[in-house]
Amino acid sequence: MGNYRTTYDDARQDPSAFWLKQAKDVQWSTPPSQGVDTSRSPFDTWFADGEINACYNALDYHVANGRAEQAAIVYDSPVTNSKRTLSYAELLDQVSHFAGALKALGVGRGDRVLIYMPMVPEAVVAVLASARLGAVHSVVFGGFAAKELAVRIDDSTPSVLVAASCGVEPNRLVEYKPLLDQAIEIATHKVPHTVVLQREQCTAPMIDGRDHDWNALVKSASAVECVPVASTDPLYVLYTSGTTGQPKGVVRDTGGSVVSLKWSMKAVYDTDPGDVFWAASDIGWVVGHSYIIYGPLFQGCTTLMYEGKPVGTPDAGAFWRVIEEHQVKVLFTAPTAFRAIRKEDPEGKLIKDYDLSKFKALFLAGERCDPDTLIWAQEKLQRPVIDHWWQTETGWAICANCTGLEVMPVKAGSPTVPVPGYHLDVLDDSGDPVERGQIGSLVVKLPLPPGTFSNLWNAPDRYQSSYFERFPGYYETGDAGYIDDGGYAFVMARTDDVINVAGHRLSTGAMEEVLASHPDVAECAVLGVADDLKGQLPLGLVILNSGCERDNSEIASELVTRVREHIGPVAAFKSVAVVARLPKTRSGKILRATMRSIADRVEWKMPATIEDPAVLEEIQTALAELGYAKETSV
Ligand code: COA
Ligand code: AMP
Repeated sequence: MGNYRTTYDDARQDPSAFWLKQAKDVQWSTPPSQGVDTSRSPFDTWFADGEINACYNALDYHVANGRAEQAAIVYDSPVTNSKRTLSYAELLDQVSHFAGALKALGVGRGDRVLIYMPMVPEAVVAVLASARLGAVHSVVFGGFAAKELAVRIDDSTPSVLVAASCGVEPNRLVEYKPLLDQAIEIATHKVPHTVVLQREQCTAPMIDGRDHDWNALVKSASAVECVPVASTDPLYVLYTSGTTGQPKGVVRDTGGSVVSLKWSMKAVYDTDPGDVFWAASDIGWVVGHSYIIYGPLFQGCTTLMYEGKPVGTPDAGAFWRVIEEHQVKVLFTAPTAFRAIRKEDPEGKLIKDYDLSKFKALFLAGERCDPDTLIWAQEKLQRPVIDHWWQTETGWAICANCTGLEVMPVKAGSPTVPVPGYHLDVLDDSGDPVERGQIGSLVVKLPLPPGTFSNLWNAPDRYQSSYFERFPGYYETGDAGYIDDGGYAFVMARTDDVINVAGHRLSTGAMEEVLASHPDVAECAVLGVADDLKGQLPLGLVILNSGCERDNSEIASELVTRVREHIGPVAAFKSVAVVARLPKTRSGKILRATMRSIADRVEWKMPATIEDPAVLEEIQTALAELGYAKETSV
């Protein structure tokens, strides 16, 4: 594959030639002659004259080329105490029949299929069946509430909604069907059909005419073949948090995704066909799309689907048990999972109980990896531990240690260097490049490589204004950081109101909208404060309407419930303080960053623009009552 520097330079000098070369490594029904088309920038397209099907690349090709009997999916579910293996031939059979079932419900090329499912193989079947028909899937994470599901239904207007009767969390069953019914009720778009996978843990009541039982439907369905689509046709829409309550529907095209993910499986993760790859994430997140489903299957690997947690299912040795039992070569998860393991097993004693001889490397992403966690994992595992940085928008790594090209020395706190295809720069507020070592906005020079987002669903103006307007000619990542003298990138913080809770991306703006909708709340702010386990946790500060004489703690608990019901348990919103005033600038802007520094006990300066410095003392007292901010002084 060449070493890092030559590969990076090749991709930089002539992106079209570089990626057309990589495109030869995947299966097209019409091979492309065009690389990138920048004529409508920033709506750049890749391989515009090519035709392809993603499901064909994931399944049919491998079945026809010697992998029919190889495991495609190994499902390991400690929460239901079950395991299952599906070979490539079995998975293809299930996918082509489920695609037939969807087709019988009227799904065709370009239609949307919304998938609201836990970590079961049928979720992958639904995704690939959608891709097989040239339809556009949109997976919604199971930890989101009915309201969030309804927003996604209205934005993506699906023809079919595929769900399971329940998800299984270690401490409870999450019944999906009532959430689904509620979401369909709230949404303006009326979904004509749902398909429900009845799990044995709970049987959902069905609505005649609208709800179809998965098994019954598949039994009467005939298998269908892949529908070739334009390379530029959307493969999926994945909603992610922006700065407002309206999530952004990230659109990923088909050809670019197949080429980039296949290439990354070797270049970034150094995996070969036949290897076992485990992304311990969820299919509802981008990591799940790229590296539970598509990447490993494009590469002819076995993908591991784990329905469990790093701790408590049953203990902090769960990851090592899975690695040994299924001979995992590469594990990819979020640093928070390792913080959870370390908390339970600080000495890493459980690691020694398992044979990890097949395990080659650990990749971490989803949030900044604190050096402590990285060093702990390195010491305990005695394997390369690789932090890499990416986003829902990019779909694959912007910066990484590309182990399939060349293993570079690790610097704790850095996701290493830009991956070939990404030309990273750091700009100041006026758009000028900063000196090496100086913090600024992390931006990627256009064109972005294939497999990154091509638009926002129903929101091309927002696509342009959110990502490409502030720094013309660049993609604005929304992260701040720096590049050191050795060319290593350091990603330090978001520049917007997005926070990262246990590797899950959430919007403080969306939570503020929920708090503000409470009848007793006059004004509010939500901050992402530092947390030892989850990286960040949301914390709400509210001012009540004058004249409100209700008990503060009662209102606080209503607010916690309200966020859980409107956004979902995954927001982990549990702390609220009622305050008399919020600190503001003279122009009325709430000083969230200053409050966050006080909560996190880091150094801060009195903002010159503050209207009344005394407010900060009140805030400090309120935060201290919640267990934050004790050691700072104003
Ligand atoms: N469906 C329904 N509810 C879900 C859910 C799902 N798929 N996933 C999580 N939830 C719920 C949990 O039950 C929990 O609810 P609770 O408030 O009733 O306890 C809440 O959402 C928060 O869940 P989670 O983020 O998993 O936190 P946790 O406290 O249960 O566990 C960790 C902490 C660190 C073990 C956990 O966050 C973890 O495994 N993180 C790994 C990170 C990861 O996978 N990141 C993905 C990006 S790579
Ligand atoms: P998501 O879109 O959910 O994948 O979240 C993307 C955001 O998570 C990025 O914009 C970063 O803020 C953060 N992030 C992901 N990976 C890393 C990393 N390796 N280091 C620092 N931040 C990261």
